[in-house]
Amino acid sequence: MAQITFKSNSAAETLKTGRSIGKVILGGTILTLEGDLGSGKTLFVKGLAQGLKISQEITSPTFALIQIYHGGLELYHVDLYRLNEKEILELGLEDCWRNRVPTQPQNWALAIEWGNKAKAIFPKEKSIAILQLNFKILSKYSRNIKIEGPLECLKKIQTSLQKS
Ligand SMILES: Nc1ncnc2c1ncn2[C@@H]1O[C@H](COP(=O)(O)OP(=O)(O)OP(=O)(O)O)[C@@H](O)[C@H]1O
Ligand SMILES: [Mg+2]
Repeated sequence: MAQITFKSNSAAETLKTGRSIGKVILGGTILTLEGDLGSGKTLFVKGLAQGLKISQEITSPTFALIQIYHGGLELYHVDLYRLNEKEILELGLEDCWRNRVPTQPQNWALAIEWGNKAKAIFPKEKSIAILQLNFKILSKYSRNIKIEGPLECLKKIQTSLQKS
């Protein structure tokens, strides 16, 4: 596991960060988003959706539990904040990565706010990349963003962030 850390100085910058990452993630990527309330997790997912060329509006999934959007990849967006262990198991997150045709490339990405609560059920397959993002509020408009994940994946993200 490698990691990169950087600062976002505005909401627009966090949105752009998500967009840059959405452009380079491969199908079969799980992104966990941790961090203070209002630190930018949902905003990041909006950017991610833009990078995946999703035109539907991204809303907070708190009540709908799982939001599904269609773009370059299918994007599943979940927020586990209010869910307990049993409710998380009942969500059926496994449907994202199970029962796929093995010869077909994975066509989905899963963005989970407070995803560490579901860590135990994540698949162990090497073909599935898990990116762990951590958001920290530094001041009204400034956030620290840390991304941990497979080196290859982070290299691509780094390049995409530099280009944006
Ligand atoms: N640099 C920044 N990055 C992200 N958001 C920012 C930044 N500066 C200000 N903001 C504001 O912070 C808020 C972030 O809200 P958002 O819903 O994305 O947070 P969240 O982490 O998903 O919160 P929650 O834990 O409640 O789901 C927005 O109102 C946004 O405009
Ligand atoms: Mg949120």
